[in-house]
Amino acid sequence: MSTSPIVRAFFDRPTGSLHYVFHDPATMKGAVVDPVWNFDPAAAAVWTESADEMLSYIRDEGISIEWILDTHPHADHFSAAVYMAGKLGGVPRAIGEKVTGVQRLWADIYDDPDLPQDGSQWDRLFAEGDTFMVGEVPVKVMFSPGHTLASITYVAGDAAFVHDTLMYPSSGTSRADFPGGSSADLWDSIRAILDLPAETRLFVGHDYPEKGRQPNYMATVAEHRLSNIHVKDGIDRDTFIQRRDARDATLRLPDRMLHALQVNIRGGRLPGSEEGGHGYFKIPVGRFERR
Ligand SMILES: [Fe+2]
Repeated sequence: MSTSPIVRAFFDRPTGSLHYVFHDPATMKGAVVDPVWNFDPAAAAVWTESADEMLSYIRDEGISIEWILDTHPHADHFSAAVYMAGKLGGVPRAIGEKVTGVQRLWADIYDDPDLPQDGSQWDRLFAEGDTFMVGEVPVKVMFSPGHTLASITYVAGDAAFVHDTLMYPSSGTSRADFPGGSSADLWDSIRAILDLPAETRLFVGHDYPEKGRQPNYMATVAEHRLSNIHVKDGIDRDTFIQRRDARDATLRLPDRMLHALQVNIRGGRLPGSEEGGHGYFKIPVGRFERR
């Protein structure tokens, strides 16, 4: 393993979302992963406290940000990628190339054929195997579908941002029942992640700690293979799929899903807000079953 970036985690407690800044200490160049734009669904209010906390850290540490990286279109929070990029001098924003499939799927659910479905809302769409540098840290992209059909993992030196594939070993894995999700694909993606070197640090996208406890967000490949309750060594593919599907059938959809997707398939922009003033959400009534 050639390099080891410094990773700082940030936590949005209302959605249990973890987001990250990593940087190369040799060059002080870095990247942001999955920044959160705060949203209160009751008031449909948006604010930037989480992103501003990240920006303060970036400024205080003297990190030069080169990329805003999203792992997938999130179903529980809004991406602050556009806001962060604006505050950081227009650094490029990226996501996985299969986001176009998610755009097609949700453009249909929202009955919004005018939505551009070519990924043009981002500066770069990454494919499996793509590589780039952040300072002297090589970053490799792994296509990691399952939780969504567009999810990717960023492997930055000995740190991998796996987002909603794995959770902390004691919590297991993320759900695979959103539109375009697949527990079978999730298993295959996770096994590929667990084939990374044993000491690789895996940074996850969610934890849901009770009040007073700090979130758990990092464990190594070796720790997951030893103790992850859903995918540790010895559990087979069929067992995982059956357990994952059974558990997903008991989970309510995220309260923010129908708001979040229409923002996130636009790269982190409110619908209809380009002309200034308020944007308006469009919620498909009766499209999903009660859970
Ligand atoms: Fe997610």
